Amino acid sequence: MPFDRTQPISWENAVGDAAVMLDELQPNIVKAHTREFLTILFLKFNDPAGAKTFLKSLTQTPAAAPLLKSAKTHLQEVKAFKATGKKGTPYVGVGITSAGYALLQIPDPKVPPDLSFRTGMQNATLNDPAPAAWDPHLRGVIHAVVLVGDQMSGTRNKALTAVHHLIDAAHGVTILGKEKGHGLHNSNGDGIEHFGYVDGRSQPLFLTEEIDDERLTTDGTGNWDPAFGLDRVIVPDTAAPDPTRHFGSYFVFRKLEQNVKLFKKEEKALARRLHLKGDDAERAGAMLVGRFEDGTPLTAQFADGSHHPVPNDFDYDSDPNGAKCPFFAHIRKVNPRGSGGFEPVENERHHIMARRGQTYGVRTDQPNDGRIENKPSKDVGLLFMAFNADIAQQFEFAQSTWANNPGFPRVPPGAGAPGLDLVIGQSPTPRPDIHCPVAWGGSTISTTTATPQAVTMKGGEYFFMPSLAFLRSL
Ligand code: HEM
Repeated sequence: MPFDRTQPISWENAVGDAAVMLDELQPNIVKAHTREFLTILFLKFNDPAGAKTFLKSLTQTPAAAPLLKSAKTHLQEVKAFKATGKKGTPYVGVGITSAGYALLQIPDPKVPPDLSFRTGMQNATLNDPAPAAWDPHLRGVIHAVVLVGDQMSGTRNKALTAVHHLIDAAHGVTILGKEKGHGLHNSNGDGIEHFGYVDGRSQPLFLTEEIDDERLTTDGTGNWDPAFGLDRVIVPDTAAPDPTRHFGSYFVFRKLEQNVKLFKKEEKALARRLHLKGDDAERAGAMLVGRFEDGTPLTAQFADGSHHPVPNDFDYDSDPNGAKCPFFAHIRKVNPRGSGGFEPVENERHHIMARRGQTYGVRTDQPNDGRIENKPSKDVGLLFMAFNADIAQQFEFAQSTWANNPGFPRVPPGAGAPGLDLVIGQSPTPRPDIHCPVAWGGSTISTTTATPQAVTMKGGEYFFMPSLAFLRSL
């Protein structure tokens, strides 16, 4: 029995093709897999036989509970944890690049068809630094990526050792390099990124169980509907035995280094330039991100404080002139919530993707003495990861047509040009001036120079995370 991919589904009531899909889908796609500690291995295969042996073994070893579990098993583990406290197993995920599919000798018509996937991130138009400046292990040909994560470093390490054994057992698998991520939290226990802001809160939700939770246990879903059809995150796995029931997802990986010292300096300088005093100085940083550090949306209130649970039920209807949250603020650029002005909201929603990022790097300012000059300027950042059904329409659209585009969103006359996304916007030319509300919601808008770019892309690639059925069939 086919299922309607334009709608969310209930995993607990899934039957027929929907149940097969969940049994054969990798975890972390339709629902984020929690992990505080994550290791990402970038692999190159020297021969197809060794590659096949390794990829297949992830779904078969150990026989009783293979390292690469299904989405269904993951969801069952989460349910058991909520009911009894029983901990789940580590997360293992695997993605293959277009070059990887070629090496595996998968016939071209069966290779995942997404054009961006096939051409690779190095050929994308994203205003990225030239690949020669990327980290060495991310700049050459990559065939596959393996993610290994868990809540504790010990259990992550155990799973990682098991993956290393499989790599050693299959011949011709080379580890090009690795990234290590670990979670950061604020004093409320919420996950944050290195600039200090709550991250990972706003997500498309594909399971009715998660949508119900959002409606009943948070600030609600009356203004922003987090429900998305499965067709925004999964696509038929064309190389699998039965693409009508076996699905996968396009996985975007980008290593984004954060110059925390520069960003914090600029937050302060912006507050000075706008004459924001006392507690209101916090608004300068919130204007760059669109939320205060504790996650309070700037469009909803003029100061932080509404952090539990971090709100997400808002839109920009009450702020058409950017008098509360400026148009250049990161979250307004990458999810205008119906206020972009170029497309109807249903089409705008097609560009939203499932973000699964994790912070990396060791802070040099621990214990945190609050001094900006002690904050790191390199070697820390975000391992940006996202699942997509269509890379050009989701990740690339958000980065290129929205974040990098100084003319987005469409703004009313007199509101001042929007400018680049001041967190992730990349441009070959200097960032245009920005327009900031002097008092929150007031009519006076001050024009000032944009903050410099504090995020540097250090490399990345597009992968396809295939179905377990495909991996078993190798
Ligand atoms: C170092 C780089 C980045 C930093 C520091 C960062 C930071 C943040 C923060 C603090 C939030 C607010 C938390 C939330 O609403 O979940 C957020 C949301 C978001 N970010 Fe980023 N981000 C980065 C890179 C990216 C990239 C590369 C993209 C995509 C091109 C992106 C897309 C989004 C989206 C779609 C949201 C949710 C917006 C919403 O629904 O309101 N971010 N980011």
